[in-house]
Amino acid sequence: MTSAATTFRERLRALPTFPPGLPPFGVDLDDLATAPATPQDLFARWFDDALAANLGAPHAATLSTADADGRVHARTLVIKDVTAEGWWFAGQSSSPKGRDLAANPHAALTVFWRDLGRQVRVTGTVRSAGPDAGAADFRARPEGSRAAGLVGHQSEPLASRADYRTAFADRLSEVRADPAAFAPAWTAWVLKPASVEFWQASDDKGQARLRYRAAAASDAPASLDTVPTIDTPSWTKELLWP
Ligand SMILES: Cc1cc2nc3c(=O)[nH]c(=O)nc-3n(C[C@H](O)[C@H](O)[C@H](O)COP(=O)(O)O)c2cc1C
Repeated sequence: MTSAATTFRERLRALPTFPPGLPPFGVDLDDLATAPATPQDLFARWFDDALAANLGAPHAATLSTADADGRVHARTLVIKDVTAEGWWFAGQSSSPKGRDLAANPHAALTVFWRDLGRQVRVTGTVRSAGPDAGAADFRARPEGSRAAGLVGHQSEPLASRADYRTAFADRLSEVRADPAAFAPAWTAWVLKPASVEFWQASDDKGQARLRYRAAAASDAPASLDTVPTIDTPSWTKELLWP
């Protein structure tokens, strides 16, 4: 309940950031050798925790991009997959995010799971996964989402809601008449991680951070067993001061 007697600042200051009863990190931070070998493995574990905790939209993440002049833009989207190649997401190549990524592939995806006191930050470079992956992602979307994707013009100024309603209704008819209708600008992208940081709050307010860094080929130990490739980097695990 808000009250005229409290200021906005006071209402903000009164908010707890995390609920009590936060889980532990789930990794023995005194022995990083026992931590999952890849950040994808730890992300999958934490994601399962998020599902088990019934978090709302645990697959929602903030994608931060920057244009060629270094101006930063961030927006929420959903993670579509996590594989050895990286973190997958999708959208229109003709959108501002698509233009940013074409001009500057450096990007970050940030996930916040408040009820678990957890944040994951993935940073790296983004590439398009190609037209087949884009088409497959588009066709897996529900009918209304495909219609919305076909409307196009994302993030351009809209003169009136009526214009959008008409465009959406037309595209919905198109999708119903032709379920294979496809928006060519729809793109599946993969963020190949250079670093992935796992952050855990705790009830006593002490925080813990574990970062995986992809080792450059020249940093990797010379071993026939661990020859790094582009898709399977060797990972350095390190703690960070909170
Ligand atoms: C929960 C949530 C999920 C979203 N998922 C996507 C998505 O998967 N792809 C997408 O392009 N936009 C998604 N959006 C919309 C974006 O936040 C954004 O408004 C849109 O992509 C335009 O961004 P841009 O102008 O920076 O390109 C989502 C928004 C929310 C709130």
